[in-house]
Amino acid sequence: MNDFLWWRDGVIYQVYVRSFADSNGDGLGDLPGLISRLDYLGNLGIDALWLSPIYPSPDADFGYDVADHAAVDPRYGTLADFDRLLAEAHRRGIRIVLDMVMNHTSDQHPWFQESRSSRDNARRDWYIWSDRPNNWTAAFGGSAWERDPATGQYYLHLFTRRQPDVNWRRPEVRAAQLDVFRFWLARGVDGFRLDVYNAYFKDAGLRDNPRRAGLRGFDRQHHLHDMDQPEMMPLLRDLRALLDSYPERYSVGETYLATPAKAASYCGADKLHAAFSFDFAGGNLLYPWNAAWIAERISRRESVFDAAGIWPTTVMSNHDVPRAAGRYSRGEDDAPARMATTLLLTLRGTPFLYYGEEIGMRDISLGKNEIVDPPGKKYWPLYKGRDGCRSPMQWDGSEHAGFSSTKPWLPVHPDFPRRNVAAQSEDSGSLLSFTRSLISLRKATPALVRGEYVPLTARRGVLAFLRTLPQRKVLVAMNFGRRETVLEVDPHAGRPGRVLLSTRQRSSGRSGSELDLGPHEVVLLELTSG
Ligand code: NOJ
Repeated sequence: MNDFLWWRDGVIYQVYVRSFADSNGDGLGDLPGLISRLDYLGNLGIDALWLSPIYPSPDADFGYDVADHAAVDPRYGTLADFDRLLAEAHRRGIRIVLDMVMNHTSDQHPWFQESRSSRDNARRDWYIWSDRPNNWTAAFGGSAWERDPATGQYYLHLFTRRQPDVNWRRPEVRAAQLDVFRFWLARGVDGFRLDVYNAYFKDAGLRDNPRRAGLRGFDRQHHLHDMDQPEMMPLLRDLRALLDSYPERYSVGETYLATPAKAASYCGADKLHAAFSFDFAGGNLLYPWNAAWIAERISRRESVFDAAGIWPTTVMSNHDVPRAAGRYSRGEDDAPARMATTLLLTLRGTPFLYYGEEIGMRDISLGKNEIVDPPGKKYWPLYKGRDGCRSPMQWDGSEHAGFSSTKPWLPVHPDFPRRNVAAQSEDSGSLLSFTRSLISLRKATPALVRGEYVPLTARRGVLAFLRTLPQRKVLVAMNFGRRETVLEVDPHAGRPGRVLLSTRQRSSGRSGSELDLGPHEVVLLELTSG
């Protein structure tokens, strides 16, 4: 593609740095470790890395509580390491996207330390203080307000109490936050993922949220006044103008309580480049796995994003939800993971691949005393938190899976002797080989990247759709069932042609407009007209 735009047409890989590669034997992943794996990532064919937070943090929420936005946590390396990462990544054509956590800071951040020191501190209203808490609830449980004994007032925190929300309404706060973007832009960072951006602004009058039915406290109210306030739009315009003053810089927002319509409303030429709508990533009770449901979710997002001319994003796994491979398969079988990877890489939208997803890593399961994630500690055993999907990357079959020379911060999944990068690299039938082939096919097939999405069927357990450009049509078909089946391809759509990729050896199996599909088979083929 000669008009290739990395953030639209490329594949973005999320690195949870803490769990990716440990170079200095402290049990935590770090930047030099990541640098040592860039060749692997280059060979996988990815175009950009999104790094989960790398800033100094007391780890009340594992990096999502930032104590200094313009520095690297010494446990991960130094700013010089970061510059080296940037240079080494760029040398390989890989862009770097940083995670910007700007809805809140750590309670250890100097701004908050000043703010909480007295009611008349110059930075007092850099955070949101009140004499009387309203009914807002924290996403991680309990009231969103914490009384601070030093001054007797309450401060707002939408996450843990060690993550006070900043007051974006203060012009000084806005200026200081935009300066953080400038700091990283000047170093050459290519883009930003904005953590819970749509919660930056809260209702100026701090009105109570209306109640509704729900399971947890947080779900028992409409989040009418604690997020999605109109003041966000002018801020996005300022941010976009800043990004556009550099060549090809990118922003993707993590939409809180996302719907496609909400995510798309924050995107555009003078807003974010993209925003997650999380159509497929979540717990499997709410996000089931069958052709009809998936087709419905695709059409739901297509109808919004396509109509608005906004480029979507596709996410199957990330650091907040159970990994897709284990969500859809109880045992060792990777067939469902191949299907999830196929959706990720063949739907219209930028794919975000989560570290380890390419080898089908499964969540680890932990006992109560091993849990470190705050919501997991709070809600166990009802909800066991997010540690499961954050276990160390499984590089090889050696001790600690080649992640570290010492005991890692979270246990390695016990399947690592079989499931690891080294083993799967040798095996042409592995999920890793499949992912690599599909990424490379995607790169070589413009219809898979920029083509229109045309649904064909979601009946009888088969999901089939086309990606079309004026001269090219690619059929993507997936059999969600465990039995052989036949897909009738409407002759108007075209005749089954060359097989581009299949999860089983197939040279035959096509007759006229019929395509037979093996159990859980994924097949991509060209359709020819006439
Ligand atoms: C969303 C992040 O993805 C999650 O990991 C974090 O806990 C919250 N935002 C708070 O920053």
